[in-house]
Amino acid sequence: MEPISLPDALASFTERWSPRIVTTVNDYDVRVAKVEGEHVWHVHDHTDEFFLVLDGELHIALRERDGERTVVLPRGSVFTVPRGTEHKPYAPAPAAILVLEPTGTLTVGDRHDEVPEHVDATTGHALA
Ligand code: NI
Repeated sequence: MEPISLPDALASFTERWSPRIVTTVNDYDVRVAKVEGEHVWHVHDHTDEFFLVLDGELHIALRERDGERTVVLPRGSVFTVPRGTEHKPYAPAPAAILVLEPTGTLTVGDRHDEVPEHVDATTGHALA
């Protein structure tokens, strides 16, 4: 086990919305992703999902009991989407995020809208 540079990890791939697993903590993955444009409405029925914005700005649309709202996360911000909450991340410009979630968690959740071509439905890829 050696330290992992997040800038190096991010420089090792170009795909958007296609997370790489940089390390694990107990039964959780620490994943990084390059993002731009819209992800897809989806929900994780059994787990919260933690976001940290490494670069750029991430918006997350949320469908909550009281209606729909969007949270805006500038670089350096964290946010946790509670389990069972439908959400759709969106990045108005190229950005980089770190996500913490249980190993095996699908990026498009347990239920989702039709997955667009530019979104990778994956449980995360190993770093090259
Ligand atoms: Ni999600």
